[in-house]
Amino acid sequence: MSAQDNVRIAPADGKLGVLIPGMGAVTTTFIAGVEAVKRGLAKPIGSVTQLSTIRLGKRTDGRSPLIKDFVPLASLEDLTIGTWDIFEENAYQAAQHAGVLEKSLLDQLREPLEAICPQPAVFDHEFVKRIHGPNLKPEGSKMDHAEMLMDDIRKFRESSGAARLVMIWCGSTEVFHKPAEVHATIRNFECGLQKNDPEISPSQIYAYAALKSGVPYANGAPHLTTDTPALIELARERNVPICGKDFKTGQTFMKTLIAPGLKSRMLGVSGWFSTNILGNRDGEVLDDPGSFKSKEESKLSALEQILQPDLYPDLYKNIYHKVRINYYPPRGDAKEGWDNIDIFGWLGYPMQIKIDFLCRDSILAAPLVLDLVLFMDLAQRAGMRGVQEWLSFYFKAPMTAPGLYPEHDIFIQLMKLKNTLRWMRGEALITHLGLEYYD
Ligand SMILES: NC(=O)c1ccc[n+]([C@@H]2O[C@H](COP(=O)([O-])OP(=O)(O)OC[C@H]3O[C@@H](n4cnc5c(N)ncnc54)[C@H](O)[C@@H]3O)[C@@H](O)[C@H]2O)c1
Repeated sequence: MSAQDNVRIAPADGKLGVLIPGMGAVTTTFIAGVEAVKRGLAKPIGSVTQLSTIRLGKRTDGRSPLIKDFVPLASLEDLTIGTWDIFEENAYQAAQHAGVLEKSLLDQLREPLEAICPQPAVFDHEFVKRIHGPNLKPEGSKMDHAEMLMDDIRKFRESSGAARLVMIWCGSTEVFHKPAEVHATIRNFECGLQKNDPEISPSQIYAYAALKSGVPYANGAPHLTTDTPALIELARERNVPICGKDFKTGQTFMKTLIAPGLKSRMLGVSGWFSTNILGNRDGEVLDDPGSFKSKEESKLSALEQILQPDLYPDLYKNIYHKVRINYYPPRGDAKEGWDNIDIFGWLGYPMQIKIDFLCRDSILAAPLVLDLVLFMDLAQRAGMRGVQEWLSFYFKAPMTAPGLYPEHDIFIQLMKLKNTLRWMRGEALITHLGLEYYD
């Protein structure tokens, strides 16, 4: 700890184990990407931890180190990966199946990818309806399954020699559920695990196993997991960081870029219609109405929170907001997202904006996985427990303290993230007031 640090940050010594339920498109693109970067075959484009700098002190000080030189982060060489999936394919086969990366690149990474084979999954058809796979844990109660996962975690820690672990959910989106009585306290939850309560989802069993094992948990999907009183209580009790939910990529990323800009100029919005076509396995799962409902809730919330119709009724009270996701196999992972935005300006005169984003879902998500893993490990080494709101930057539906509305504006989120890093290291927070330059 240097004299000025606000928190003691343990050094990032030893290997960092990354535990990932779900080894589909996002996970394999993340793993292959890390291996490609390590070999100098590509650059970690899109990763704030790898590429972004952070300004320290005054604008005239000329101090802008890379974030990874400013705070102690695990290096890519120190990452070691463990996964679970309902399919038995190794990471090389699963990456080919996902169809995101070119075969010529995957072939250069074949050896490390083939070495990653998923553990049998805890899976429940009531929560993910459209897929079936053979690689499942033996039958048992939900508590038995939690114990099997804790056993997997213990064994992975031993076999990989990892000094620390982080878990990040990159599995399919589960069916929409609201928190129930079983999620009210950790006591109820543990009772529910024993009695196989139907409201407890597989992702909650993974999260419980992680938190009980002292492992931070991040949720990349939109369903209900650690955003329940029971698991928040467990995270705080075990001094473990949690964050979520739903990676902010593609269309919602665009929304959180455009909407704050329109609002900053006090331009009105009367309608925002968003539609997507995508053909990967994620798209297939989201074709089920229950899983789509989880995604829809997460996607709809961002705009409402950014535009604040209660504060600006003349501009945003009557906005019609619609989000559609259409499963269209020919596109694979190369999603296309259209937005039609009906806006109005001075004296109410209407205008329109059209966005056609030909994106690649997993290419946008993979660097987020890397950043979240590294920052969650940092948070744990800095003794930060419970909800990590400073990582909202990465999520469509950021978790916050109870009663606090989430901040969705990506520029405020980035400022919050960087100020948190400055705060950790005892540097002055940057307010952008800047009066001192004019004294
Ligand atoms: N790609 C993006 O831009 C993006 C953005 C936001 C959120 N997400 C979310 O990230 C998740 C992963 O996306 P993807 O494109 O890789 O999907 P994918 O369908 O390619 O991969 C998900 C994998 O999870 C596995 N799985 C499902 N339930 C499981 C369980 N209980 N245990 C272990 N494995 C399980 C599936 O078999 C599949 O291989 C999805 O929930 C998706 O909605 C993705």
